[in-house]
Amino acid sequence: MTGPKVLLSAMVACASASPFLPRDVSGTNSTNTTSPFVYTNSFGLNFTQMNASLPNVTIFATGGTIAGTDSSSVATSGYAAGQLGVLELVNAVPQILDVANVAGVQIANVGSEDVTSAMHLQMAHEINKVVCGDPTMSGAVITHGTDTLEETSFFIDATVNCGKPVVVVGAMRPATAVSADGPFNLLEAVTVAASPLSRNRGALVVFNDRIVSAYYATKINANTLDTFKAPEMGNLGELISDIPYYFYPPVTPTGKTAFDVSNVEEIPRVDILFSYQDMSNDTLFSAIKHGAKGIVYAGAGAGGVSSNVDSAINFVVNKHKIPVVNSFRSANGEVPDSDIGNSSSQAIRIPSGYLNPQKSRILLGLLLAEKKNLTEIRDVFLGSTDD
Ligand SMILES: *[C@@H]1O[C@H](CO)[C@@H](O)[C@H](O)[C@H]1NC(C)=O
Ligand SMILES: *[C@@H]1O[C@H](CO)[C@@H](O)[C@H](O)[C@H]1NC(C)=O
Ligand SMILES: *[C@@H]1O[C@H](CO)[C@@H](O)[C@H](O)[C@H]1NC(C)=O
Ligand SMILES: *[C@@H]1O[C@H](CO)[C@@H](O)[C@H](O)[C@H]1NC(C)=O
Ligand SMILES: *[C@@H]1O[C@H](CO)[C@@H](O)[C@H](O)[C@H]1NC(C)=O
Ligand SMILES: *[C@@H]1O[C@H](CO)[C@@H](O)[C@H](O)[C@H]1NC(C)=O
Ligand SMILES: *[C@@H]1O[C@H](CO)[C@@H](O)[C@H](O)[C@H]1NC(C)=O
Ligand SMILES: *[C@@H]1O[C@H](CO)[C@@H](O)[C@H](O)[C@H]1NC(C)=O
Repeated sequence: MTGPKVLLSAMVACASASPFLPRDVSGTNSTNTTSPFVYTNSFGLNFTQMNASLPNVTIFATGGTIAGTDSSSVATSGYAAGQLGVLELVNAVPQILDVANVAGVQIANVGSEDVTSAMHLQMAHEINKVVCGDPTMSGAVITHGTDTLEETSFFIDATVNCGKPVVVVGAMRPATAVSADGPFNLLEAVTVAASPLSRNRGALVVFNDRIVSAYYATKINANTLDTFKAPEMGNLGELISDIPYYFYPPVTPTGKTAFDVSNVEEIPRVDILFSYQDMSNDTLFSAIKHGAKGIVYAGAGAGGVSSNVDSAINFVVNKHKIPVVNSFRSANGEVPDSDIGNSSSQAIRIPSGYLNPQKSRILLGLLLAEKKNLTEIRDVFLGSTDD
């Protein structure tokens, strides 16, 4: 499964753009054969070029298919994700340097199933410090595996709120595939992060020429390129020939809650349980027994669970005061407050509104980290419902 490491730069050697060399356009001739960096800023970020008339963008790399390789150029499955570092990614797309000065920060180099809440916090802390805290930085890009990209995007949307764009991007085809999508996606992501038009829209997912709100974006297809969508809410904009166009002026999602995680060191465990016919209540009790501090149910339809599980949920909420959020297993839709069970007068049941289970899980984890009580948690989720 793990193919030999093939440099993405080799794949674009025939491209017409100028070869990537460290570029110092500030006047000094510092083409440096021992270091690819020509400028280090006060936060220790290393830039591969410094043209003071261009915007500055930091790329936070976590791995994923965009950094994945395979020995076969036709494999779009079974390849090893997270093999290439941030410098190699930028190396493959020298056109980026016509758009922005870029610095790279390697957070991790893993497939997205292995991205953790600790990495989420690390990214939020770093972005708030070196991007929000630096007037010379225009925005940030996060390169990420696609499988759980929507979770990281939602977390970053909730926790980075300085108005500067943070763009989350990935690829469906590994770097070694014929017609890999990573290089162009990365160029578009840096372009969007560098654009003043992208400010005050929350975090963004850029994929396959589309710009989607990170709050709503979800992976709708396990295999194909055109996979990040907000099916009901639509795209915020598009890129044609790498020029971003927004359909509407800046706006953030209706139910969005902003979090300050500067003092948060850990996100409590939240488990997701999937509803199905013949479901028994023991998966719920097992989750609680093993330390879950919150539960999200991917309910059938608008949050439905079997009557057996429903009464077990009420038992858990009453006995352990553990928040249980009812979300939906359907691809789209919402769980309104009026549609969730409330068979016990004591139990506070929380509807997820328009948030799918994986996004509800991130929100519940953040609320638990802030030590919110059941009523406060419910009030935040009600912001995403229509009743
Ligand atoms: C610096 O960037 C500006 C704006 O894109 C461009 O016009 C100029 O040619 C660049 N300078 C160099 C030396 O590349
Ligand atoms: C920059 O330095 C390199 C290596 O010493 C040299 O080949 C090149 O001509 C220099 N360029 C300029 C513009 O001085
Ligand atoms: C090249 O970069 C290395 C490492 O950053 C540095 O030690 C060295 O002084 C640089 N050389 C020149 C000519 O700038
Ligand atoms: C910048 O480069 C220096 C020297 O190579 C290295 O020690 C430092 O970790 C780099 N900074 C980042 C943020 O990667
Ligand atoms: C990019 O960073 C350089 C060096 O800090 C700074 O001079 C320049 O103004 C920045 N560009 C923008 C558009 O802020
Ligand atoms: C869990 O399900 C079992 C089997 O149906 C049932 O006997 C038990 O009472 C349920 N527990 C709760 C707390 O609802
Ligand atoms: C569920 O019960 C709680 C506590 O009595 C109450 O505040 C809430 O409005 C009820 N929700 C629904 C949907 O009936
Ligand atoms: C939750 O906290 C709020 C204050 O933010 C308080 O008014 C309310 O009584 C608390 N509810 C419970 C159930 O502790």
